[in-house]
Amino acid sequence: MSEYDISETEALGNVLCAYRNYGNYALREYYEPRLAKWEALHPSQRKLIPYYEEFLEMLQAAILHNAKFLRVVTDFAEQMMGIPIGESKVVNRFSMDKVVSMFSQLYREWSPEAQKERNISLDRMLPILRNFSSTEVKADGPLSVLVPGVGTGRMIADMVNEGYFSEGNEYSYHMLVMSMYMLNSGQSKGSLSIYPFIHTNSHWKDRQTMLKQVKIPDFDICAKLSGTNLMRISMGSFVDCFGPNQNIWGSSHYHINQEMQITRLEVQSSKDVVVTNFFIDTSSNILDYLLTIQHVLRPGGLWINFGPLVYHQENEDETDICYEIDQFSGLRTDHKKIPMKGIELTFDEIIEAATKLNFELLQQEDNIISGYGEPPDQNGMPGYRCAFWVMKLRHK
Ligand SMILES: C[S@@+](CC[C@H](N)C(=O)[O-])C[C@H]1O[C@@H](n2cnc3c(N)ncnc32)[C@H](O)[C@@H]1O
Repeated sequence: MSEYDISETEALGNVLCAYRNYGNYALREYYEPRLAKWEALHPSQRKLIPYYEEFLEMLQAAILHNAKFLRVVTDFAEQMMGIPIGESKVVNRFSMDKVVSMFSQLYREWSPEAQKERNISLDRMLPILRNFSSTEVKADGPLSVLVPGVGTGRMIADMVNEGYFSEGNEYSYHMLVMSMYMLNSGQSKGSLSIYPFIHTNSHWKDRQTMLKQVKIPDFDICAKLSGTNLMRISMGSFVDCFGPNQNIWGSSHYHINQEMQITRLEVQSSKDVVVTNFFIDTSSNILDYLLTIQHVLRPGGLWINFGPLVYHQENEDETDICYEIDQFSGLRTDHKKIPMKGIELTFDEIIEAATKLNFELLQQEDNIISGYGEPPDQNGMPGYRCAFWVMKLRHK
């Protein structure tokens, strides 16, 4: 069952419960097997790596430190949302792995060490945005930027820092809980600390980086963002919240009910810019994403993209039920099980399809190598091969 098939409150409660389970889970998955292995070593072998015992103690302490951090996050979320957590819930491995991945996501988005990585896309995007905003004089306020797949919220913080009205969109409750905490809990520069690298044991040259404590955030969120009223996050699937009402099948991620139809009508042509950063390859059908960007952008608006094409659904065996509604009877006319994988377009094909949807390609750069939450001092680690482009939605 996906997060989408259950009620919002229940899904959020389950995610908060998974956050709370991190300590036990991480000790069981990352610490205890290593301790058992160490203790089972032949004494003569132990003497060859005497420091390993101390490493294990540090690993245990780092896990407990991370768990304490997540406890604060869930306390905050519980208070803000009034969601009962219910400690006894069964939490699956999939959800726990998402909690674990939150530490590298926080590192990528909020650490000073990852600024270089963030700049690979930001240094390309910001000049375009600044130029666009200086030539587009708007009577009704600042540029309105939409960032689908906003993760833990960093990209909208960057946009607000530029003075733009920024809306992030996200469908993962794991991410939403964390973005709510990072953006709203009044953090100052370096006020939080995490151990983001302790969950992977391969590729290290030495133990120091693996056990490195990282301070986040890299700027004073409280001083810079609070009171600006330039920021919001919408919860739900990008296509569901911002897509058109035509030309997309109903599915578990696209609801054909009146409420969503009205929402989608209201957002039509509402944004000046859509920024997709490491996002478009999350699609099950990228054509739905293209139609959605076309729908939500105003004519003359920009679509700025950065990221690779590592299609998240490429090896997915799940299916989705797709259907349409008969306009006259109101009945579902079609029920089809459709594979989640299948439409993995190339960069060239995406650009060609976008052109047919009235986009004009203004700028394009290929083969940009970027890491994603790459630890410091990891020169030589293969990164993702990314593309950057800017497209303008033509006036009809
Ligand atoms: C690879 S991450 C990128 C996060 C962030 N943009 C960054 O660059 O660090 C992709 C994000 O898109 C979100 N996502 C995936 N499919 C989505 C959808 N259909 N609607 C909204 N968000 C989605 C995921 O939950 C995840 O947070």
